[in-house]
Amino acid sequence: MDLTLLPPDITAAHSGFELAVAACADLDALMRLKGEFTGRDGSHAARMMDLLKTAPKEQKRELGAAINGLKNAWEESIKKRQSELEASKKRGTSLASSWDPDLPPPMPAHGARHPLNRLMDRLVDVFRPLGYHVEEGPETETEAHNFDGLNIPEDHPARGSADTFYFAAHEGKLLRTHTSPVQVRVLKRLAPDIEKLGGIRFLAPGRVYRKDEIDPTHSPMFHQVEGMLVGHNIGMHHLKGTLAYAMKALFGPAADVRFRPSYFPFVEPGCEVDVRCPLCGGSGCRVCKGSGWVEILGAGLVHPNVLRFAGIDPTIWSGFAFGMGVERTAMMVSQTPDLRLFFENDQRFLKAMGGLD
Ligand code: PHE
Repeated sequence: MDLTLLPPDITAAHSGFELAVAACADLDALMRLKGEFTGRDGSHAARMMDLLKTAPKEQKRELGAAINGLKNAWEESIKKRQSELEASKKRGTSLASSWDPDLPPPMPAHGARHPLNRLMDRLVDVFRPLGYHVEEGPETETEAHNFDGLNIPEDHPARGSADTFYFAAHEGKLLRTHTSPVQVRVLKRLAPDIEKLGGIRFLAPGRVYRKDEIDPTHSPMFHQVEGMLVGHNIGMHHLKGTLAYAMKALFGPAADVRFRPSYFPFVEPGCEVDVRCPLCGGSGCRVCKGSGWVEILGAGLVHPNVLRFAGIDPTIWSGFAFGMGVERTAMMVSQTPDLRLFFENDQRFLKAMGGLD
């Protein structure tokens, strides 16, 4: 755009134009500026049009192009600012500065660990003194780790595409449906050294995925903490003692555990573990639906096949494993009625959960 043909006062106004637009704190100010630059009478644009009429013939084309270019740029900027100001008016906030130098400065909110992460951290802290270390596995798993290595039969319903997210383009790849595949990975990796290590103990917190519709108690992504111990002559009493200790450490001395027989292909015997309701202490409340107990874990003694698949001799070694539902536990402890609150990250919720201050 050749501005040298224009009178110097208009070129000067143009060079300050963008700043002037940005400085308009409300629509009135912007409309005044608009009148000044592009209004019908007496504006910079109107004066330029007059100039064009009286310009010598051979300059008309070039001058016309320069004028049009300027006018378009001005209109564009004003339109943009106008929609910004209208939007902020709707939100009820003013872009105008209401700065009061006598007030203390606003303290920036600072972030903190998410409540679900904090619960998982606490569980890790409870188990660390017992000799457990933390393991991680990939969220994108193979059928071999998620099912085969866990003694889950070919025709088990959990393998169906109605429950499991499979990657269409990658045969045998899926989003892990539980943290138990970490058992398979860790057992395989440590099998050659198990004698030297004298056993295996670990905790594996992480995300898992299932094809569940989103509702107050379901989400297609949630968290589990897997725990596993392999040693000599490990029995249900070890499992029960360990979980009772952990739940007391987590929820207080009144917490207790109770085992109900259940079935998972990778443990034998298998059980579901209830914790005495930490809210009512067992007398019955809304959270435990009057029963005094809440189910938060699946557990059992490691199935010999799981050890065998990983290259560990089940006649020498035995163990227990458990998987805890993190959201379920967090909901119970915090009396949060809707699981979705944990994922929406509304700062008011996080703050109420003590995650922000
Ligand atoms: N993986 C099981 C589940 O997701 C829980 C579990 C873990 C059960 C370990 C037994 C042993 O439901």
